[in-house]
Amino acid sequence: MTAVRLFGVDFQNPVLLASGTAGFGREVEGVIDLDTLGGIVTKAVTLEPRRGHAAPRVAEFAGGMLNAVGLANPGLATVREHELPWLAARLTRARVLVNVAGATVADYVDVIAGLTGQAVIAAFEINASCPNTTAGGLEFGATPEGLRELVRRCRAAATKPISVKLSPVLPDIVAMARIAQDEGADAVTLVNTIPGMLDRRLANGSGGVSGPALLPIGVLATHQVVHRLGMPVIGVGGIGSAQDARQYLSAGASLLAIGTAALADPRVPGRVARELAGG
Ligand SMILES: Cc1cc2nc3c(=O)[nH]c(=O)nc-3n(C[C@H](O)[C@H](O)[C@H](O)COP(=O)(O)O)c2cc1C
Repeated sequence: MTAVRLFGVDFQNPVLLASGTAGFGREVEGVIDLDTLGGIVTKAVTLEPRRGHAAPRVAEFAGGMLNAVGLANPGLATVREHELPWLAARLTRARVLVNVAGATVADYVDVIAGLTGQAVIAAFEINASCPNTTAGGLEFGATPEGLRELVRRCRAAATKPISVKLSPVLPDIVAMARIAQDEGADAVTLVNTIPGMLDRRLANGSGGVSGPALLPIGVLATHQVVHRLGMPVIGVGGIGSAQDARQYLSAGASLLAIGTAALADPRVPGRVARELAGG
């Protein structure tokens, strides 16, 4: 029995597909049976469509993967009219979390407001790792003031629970999670990718590191936040097996998300869910 209750709903098991690695579900139809999982976190939704960065967008290395997708997505209107209805029609048990991104706080608020009334959404995941164009390009989640304003205004706009997704590259991740908690976040998602670069491997130059190298980093962040704040955590980073998933669960994570490992082998999330259930 691995069911989890969070955000006022039941997840049949703790395994989610991580944001950005399974699109809006349609992209993995036929290779992943979404309804056997706890749920899917959509790729980032922005107000306007974004084409993202030029190819190559991903590069592998010994510790995992480097990606610079650039938040490519069809934008709020298409997500509302096509992607979410598709998920609502297909899923009977798996839950949907919508990852939200923007260049200004108002962008986030507009995306959330634009998705009000979408019954299929269990919660929003606020991607606090986007560059804030009104703060010289510094990430929203990088400063206490930036994060506080972002969470406060998203909280006020949302009629659904919110989880705030933080970068692991913060001097004090517990202090930032506390700000999210103080401003009414229901959970934090730990962790996002770590900035990295490999010579001539990505068209964008630099990107985000994901995969195995993130496992101990995400587990530590989860452990610190759960033990210091008692706040629900969605653990993500480097999970490729049930053993890895148990690391996050032992650290206190409520839910788990799998990204890079599912890109390499789409059977991984289902297998992890089955093994956690003892099957
Ligand atoms: C190709 C790719 C695209 C991603 N897109 C997003 C995104 O749109 N929003 C977001 O919050 N995180 C995004 N992420 C980060 C993942 O959700 C996750 O936090 C990270 O990859 C660590 O998990 P993993 O090691 O299981 O991949 C992306 C990761 C990858 C590899």
